[in-house]
Amino acid sequence: MRNTKSINTILFIMLILLAAGSVLASGELRGAHKENEIQCADCHGTDTPDSAAKTSACLSCHGDYKALAELTKDVEEANPHDNHMGEQPCKECHGIHKPSKLFCNDGCHNFDMTVK
Ligand code: HEC
Ligand code: HEC
Ligand code: HEC
Repeated sequence: MRNTKSINTILFIMLILLAAGSVLASGELRGAHKENEIQCADCHGTDTPDSAAKTSACLSCHGDYKALAELTKDVEEANPHDNHMGEQPCKECHGIHKPSKLFCNDGCHNFDMTVK
């Protein structure tokens, strides 16, 4: 009994990893990037990416950190683009192929901000 249960658990975990893997490999986009038909190469520099996109690619369309900080200067709790953490890689907060997640809240803060 015990063995069947742990094999089932392993199979279940493998299935989840497989599903997550295929979403990444297909490079499925969400939100405004999907609507604006942003291409793989715009971010990855290639149509067949095998590693994460660099922050410099994001900056080429979205301007520098200063410009981003200007966009979010009125966010009440803290400016996500200008704070004591310096210039953090965009993907620390903005998920491109996965939901976004504010890394400030990983154990330190409890900000009530929504990241697109
Ligand atoms: C708007 C920018 C952007 C676009 C457009 C984009 N990607 Fe990505 N991609 C990223 C970022 C950032 C990561 C790493 C973080 C993440 O997964 O959100 C990533 C990660 C990946 C990975 C995982 C690489 C690894 O091993 O870490 C693959 C594969 C990938 N993208 C494929 C694609 C494909 C295929 C397309 C086009 C259909 C595409 N991406 C379009 C930004 C982009
Ligand atoms: C080829 C140009 C281009 C590149 C490269 C690009 N973006 Fe965008 N992005 C856009 C456009 C166009 C929009 C929609 C209009 C806007 O908000 O400026 C957008 C919207 C966004 C939004 C608002 C999200 C939403 O769904 O409303 C975020 C956040 C964002 N981009 C982050 C990133 C990050 C992080 C990267 C790098 C991994 C990146 N972008 C790369 C063009 C680009
Ligand atoms: C510390 C987390 C964090 C990092 C790192 C970060 N952002 Fe953001 N970003 C946010 C949050 C939070 C918002 C939404 C603020 C609000 O308006 O409430 C935002 C908003 C944005 C928007 C405006 C979206 C809209 O509402 O139209 C863009 C574009 C954007 N970020 C791009 C970037 C790019 C490009 C980088 C990397 C150079 C980056 N961000 C790095 C947290 C982050």
